[in-house]
Amino acid sequence: MADDLLQAPAWKALQRHASALSGTHLRDLLDQPGRFDAFSRRHGSCLLDFSRNRLTTDTLELLVALAAERELPRRIEALFAGEVVNATENRPAQHMALRGPASPPLVVNGADIRVDVEAERERMLALAEAIRSGEFRGSTGARIRHVVNIGIGGSDLGLVMACEALREFCTRDVAVHFISNVDGTQLADVLGSVPAAETLFIVCSKTFVTWETALNANAARTWLLGQLGEEAVARHFVAVSVNAPAMDQFGIAEALRFRLWDWVGGRYSLWSSIGLAIAISIGSEHFRELLAGARGLDEHFRTAPLGDNLPVLLGLIAVWNQNLQGTTSQAILPYDARLHRFPAYLQQLEMESNGKGVTRDGRPVRWGTGTVIWGEPGNNAQHSFFQLLHQGTASFAADFIAPVEGSSPYADQHLVGLANLLAQAEAFARGYTLEAARAELVAKGRTPDEVARLAPHKVHPGNHPSNVLLLRRLDPRSLGLLIALYEQKVFVQACIWGINPFDQWG
Ligand code: F6P
Repeated sequence: MADDLLQAPAWKALQRHASALSGTHLRDLLDQPGRFDAFSRRHGSCLLDFSRNRLTTDTLELLVALAAERELPRRIEALFAGEVVNATENRPAQHMALRGPASPPLVVNGADIRVDVEAERERMLALAEAIRSGEFRGSTGARIRHVVNIGIGGSDLGLVMACEALREFCTRDVAVHFISNVDGTQLADVLGSVPAAETLFIVCSKTFVTWETALNANAARTWLLGQLGEEAVARHFVAVSVNAPAMDQFGIAEALRFRLWDWVGGRYSLWSSIGLAIAISIGSEHFRELLAGARGLDEHFRTAPLGDNLPVLLGLIAVWNQNLQGTTSQAILPYDARLHRFPAYLQQLEMESNGKGVTRDGRPVRWGTGTVIWGEPGNNAQHSFFQLLHQGTASFAADFIAPVEGSSPYADQHLVGLANLLAQAEAFARGYTLEAARAELVAKGRTPDEVARLAPHKVHPGNHPSNVLLLRRLDPRSLGLLIALYEQKVFVQACIWGINPFDQWG
């Protein structure tokens, strides 16, 4: 394979194709019959409607050809086989093993990692259940009612996001709190509101040397010690890390330590014991469902043909929009308020993974790589920044995400939300022409002068690409699917760009 993306025959063909398509407005494409059938795919309970991107069947064929030229199938195989896909850190990337089955064996560095993963998962889920049932008690014998996760980045974002998204499934018996920021405010708010005897801290840090986490964990330790004495530390602190000496030094009891492995990147780690706060919140059975949803997506990614493969399509479309259609950022717009931390979670996943300026072998790239990811729950966003998206000059792509069935008793309101999602996706694509604006003003009885003066202000250029991702319901299984979908999408983009999404030297 020529390592130079710009020299790939399919890339050159895509450039020619993009310029041939440049005069075509999305509204013209959308008016073609059969558009939805041709440009939507399903996996399990997830539907990806990518019909509102500026692409045709030719585009799709060329993108799939590009994926083949960039050896995507071989790279997917290497990823799942546990090969060293993260060459700069000399490691495989095996987050899939964390949600995978216990067999067949997966040998990494001479050992079957599935055995270790399974054992650690069972220990972690047993502790989660013991906390939920009240069997695990604090040093005074009091029941644990508050769990405080101390961690940052990958040791925080996915956990907060999942606990918020799965609020419907969270226990009311144990409240879960998160402290990530070093500024002391979260620490003050949480420590000011929880009784020490009923509080368990989880220090989540792959390295255990992240200074924000160390500072916050030490402050929490001092606070606990002041209230319950030194001997309480061993009962009130759990840790998840690869760094055993640092856990020794902190005073973490042997039974309350959970292992992590260097082949899991922090931003891919919520499936491991790093997810303990999620497991405490939703329970072990729902945590297993979360893993099962991701596992199903992995299987789909590994086996589905490229043109029917959801993460492959999402990744290829993102490359098409960014590198060949000129979009400069990616909006993530969930139409379910419980997904409000999903954009922040994706920011780390995508921007830390693909925020790279050199190829796998260290040469500067001559093409755009990871883009800026941002977003908010869509309905709120309509009343804040959608003005700029509809009528401003920014060039962006958007992912609309929603469960078809709402999880609140207000089914009608959920339907209104869904209707808004579809209307906004249509409006981004079709826009609102000057002719339509004039006709509207005439119909409203405005004078010819007013029509001429006001019509330009009502124009929406449209032509903005978007995907609509629908899940049947927001539950542990579909959330697992959704997260894994984006994880693998990031991998697809990295393969096309020829960069390493798993290292992090910044
Ligand atoms: O600075 C970024 C980072 O290294 C992330 O990759 C990671 O998720 C986060 O810090 C926290 O790291 P740790 O889990 O080792 O404390």
